[in-house]
Amino acid sequence: MPRKTVVIFGALNILWMVFAASQAFKIEIFPESKILAQIGDSISLTCSTTGCDSPSFSWRTQIDSPLNGKVINEGTKSTLTLEPVGFAHEHSYLCTATCGHDKQERGVQVDLYSFPEDPEISFSGLLEVGKPVTVTCLVRDVYPFDRLEMHLLKGDHLMKNQEFVEDTDVKALETKSLEVTFTPTNEDIGKTLVCGAKLHIDEIDFKLKEKETTKTLQVYISPRNTVISVNPSKRLQEGGSVTMTCSSEGLPAPQILWSKKLDNGNLQLLSENATLTLIAMRMEDSGIYVCEGVNLAGRDRTQVELIVQVAPRDTTISVSPSSILEEGSSVNMTCSSDGLPAPKILWRRQLNNGELQFLSENTTLTLISTKMEDSGIYVCEGINQAGKSRKEVELTIQVAPKDIQLRAIPSESVKEGDTVIISCTCGNVPQTWIILKKKAETGDTVLKSTGGEYTIHKAQLEDAGVYECESKNQVGLQLRSLTLDVKGRENNKDYFSPELLVLYCASSLIIPAIGMIIYFARRANMKGSYSLVEAQKSKV
Ligand SMILES: *[C@@H]1O[C@H](CO)[C@@H](O)[C@H](O)[C@H]1NC(C)=O
Ligand SMILES: *[C@@H]1O[C@H](CO)[C@@H](O)[C@H](O)[C@H]1NC(C)=O
Ligand SMILES: *[C@@H]1O[C@H](CO)[C@@H](O)[C@H](O)[C@H]1NC(C)=O
Repeated sequence: MPRKTVVIFGALNILWMVFAASQAFKIEIFPESKILAQIGDSISLTCSTTGCDSPSFSWRTQIDSPLNGKVINEGTKSTLTLEPVGFAHEHSYLCTATCGHDKQERGVQVDLYSFPEDPEISFSGLLEVGKPVTVTCLVRDVYPFDRLEMHLLKGDHLMKNQEFVEDTDVKALETKSLEVTFTPTNEDIGKTLVCGAKLHIDEIDFKLKEKETTKTLQVYISPRNTVISVNPSKRLQEGGSVTMTCSSEGLPAPQILWSKKLDNGNLQLLSENATLTLIAMRMEDSGIYVCEGVNLAGRDRTQVELIVQVAPRDTTISVSPSSILEEGSSVNMTCSSDGLPAPKILWRRQLNNGELQFLSENTTLTLISTKMEDSGIYVCEGINQAGKSRKEVELTIQVAPKDIQLRAIPSESVKEGDTVIISCTCGNVPQTWIILKKKAETGDTVLKSTGGEYTIHKAQLEDAGVYECESKNQVGLQLRSLTLDVKGRENNKDYFSPELLVLYCASSLIIPAIGMIIYFARRANMKGSYSLVEAQKSKV
């Protein structure tokens, strides 16, 4: 800022000096008697004479301190230049002009002031609606500050006015300030703040003694009411898409940042657009998505959890130790199903009428000390919001065959033509699990048995041999065998057919009877004869 010294320069004085040139020895000083100079400026004090051709000049201060200036004498004029003006110059300066024996003296008082710059406005922080803030207005390098008055205006409202009327002997430049704390409101948005400062010294020009700084209030509103809208849903099917839009209120309008929360809690920036579209969602895209509204005044965040659902699939059942068990043993049936969210497991048993009977929601279904009635179909289902997946297992509880018996009725040794029953029984298993076989070198023959019995009508010699009965299931096996002996008729000299036996018995009765008839015939002199041979022939 250019510094000027204002000198009141009366036109009358000039006229007077010209007019008096030819008069008696006289001295003049300019400026007259007093000058007010701004610290740092340059001022010149000029002493001039009339009525003397070559006067001599000398300068001094009233209290004989150093001049702190530069003197230039030119003919009838002497100029003392003080540059830059400082506190060392706040004196009365005396100029003495000598012409022969004539000596004349004039004095000028140098007064100082300092008010070089416009006030500065500063704030303790950002201006936020609802948050107290302190505004400071300061003026630097003021002298004399006891003449200073400052004020702060917000719009038309005077917030504070202060006069700095303190007595001090210290000659120094001071920085003075005015502080006001206020809480910005919505109404303050766009208002102006004015800080004015005035140095009350009459001699100074109006333009220089009143200074003003204006600032438009930049009021911020920290982001708030940040909301997310999700379309179509926070729960998604694998492969699906979702569009999320975020909005946040604030001044200036907050910038929107979309991020995803990682497992370690950090945020991974996804987009700086308000609308975030995610396509072809996979299970690992499930998680927390964070929207942040950000402006200079702050940030506000909100979040949404997306769940990518996967319908249950790959439902599997593992059976330990086996799905075919001996009665009395225990079994663990464990079901697993993949899906997101993790499917719930449901164990049920299929009844004879097709209905399903609830058993458990535990993954492992344990049957302790099974019975045959536990045999059947067990159904496991993996279920979540996205669907269900089913798997079945058939459980077979068996008893091991025991107490097997194989017999030939009436005997293991029969004669050709006899009827023989080969009978197999097994105490605890159904007859259908019994297999009767006849062993042979060329291969075994399975016999068509009913109820474990096989009947040989009229045994032939070839029916002789080894018979075997087997009772077998997945949990056990029992075997018995017997050897059937069939004797041929010619091999047996005592062989009588029942018919021959009857004939023999009958003939043994007939022969004596015939003898008696012959005897009586002879005794009665009966005529004719009877041949035993003929009678025998007719009987055979
Ligand atoms: C933001 O959206 C604009 C258009 O709406 C698009 O051109 C730009 O690529 C998007 N930026 C990001 C980071 O997604
Ligand atoms: C069934 O599971 C339980 C617990 O894991 C275990 O103690 C038991 O031995 C298992 N039983 C069978 C038959 O595998
Ligand atoms: C499920 O498992 C828990 C603990 O493992 C057990 O206490 C409960 O009896 C089981 N429920 C059924 C129905 O098996």
